[in-house]
Amino acid sequence: MSILLISGSPSAPSSTGRLLDHVGDKLVALGHRHHKIQVRDLPPKALLHVDCADLAIKRALAAVAEADAIVIATPVYKASFTGLLKSFLDLLPQDGLKGKLVLPLATGGSQSHMLALDYALRPVLQALEARQVLASIYATSQQLSWNDVTGLSVDTAIAWRVQDGVDALAAGLRNRHQQPDEVFVAVPQPVRLAR
Ligand SMILES: Cc1cc2nc3c(=O)[nH]c(=O)nc-3n(C[C@H](O)[C@H](O)[C@H](O)COP(=O)(O)O)c2cc1C
Repeated sequence: MSILLISGSPSAPSSTGRLLDHVGDKLVALGHRHHKIQVRDLPPKALLHVDCADLAIKRALAAVAEADAIVIATPVYKASFTGLLKSFLDLLPQDGLKGKLVLPLATGGSQSHMLALDYALRPVLQALEARQVLASIYATSQQLSWNDVTGLSVDTAIAWRVQDGVDALAAGLRNRHQQPDEVFVAVPQPVRLAR
C-alpha cells in the first residue's frame, strides 16, 4: 500500500511540513512506507502554466496516481488552503483522487479558521472523487513547538488527533486491502411475464 504526503506550504521551514513529517513518522511506526511531494519544490512556471508535460510535474502526478492514500497538508492562508496547493490540485484530472483515502491536515494562526479545511479543501477533494476523506487534523501555531535538537512537540489534543488520523488511515488501508475498490452486485431485474 503506497502512501503519499503532500505539503502545500510555500514556507521553509514550515510548521505544516513539520506536522506532516510527524504524521509520516507515526505511519512508519505502524509499518507503512511513504513518499513526499513538496509543491513548493515543483517548477513554478510549469505549475502555473499547467504544463503537464514538464518532467517534475509528470513525476508528481504519477506519484498521486500510484498512491492508495494521501495525507494532504496546508497552512491556512486567508481562511482557506494555499494558492500553491490549489495550483497543484488544478493539475489533477477530474477523477484524480478516485479510490483514494485522504487525510487532510492544516496549521493556522488561530482556532477561528479551524473549519477552513472542511468548507474549503474537503469539497475539492470530494469533487476529485476521493474514496473517503477522513476527519481533518487542525493545529494552531501555539499547539506546536519546535526544538532544533528534539524536533517537533505537539500538545496533548493534537497528539490524540494525529493518532486518531493515523489509525483511521491505517484501518482504511486494511479495509481497502480486504475489499476490492468496486464491488459489483448483480441487481435482480424485474421479470416480464409473457402474455
Ligand atoms: C499570507 C498568510 C495568510 C495567513 N492567513 C491566515 C488565516 O486566514 N487564518 C489563520 O488562522 N492563519 C493564517 N495565517 C497563519 C498561518 O496559517 C500559520 O502561521 C501556519 O502555521 C503557517 O504554516 P507554515 O509554517 O507551513 O507556512 C496566514 C499566514 C500567512 C503568511
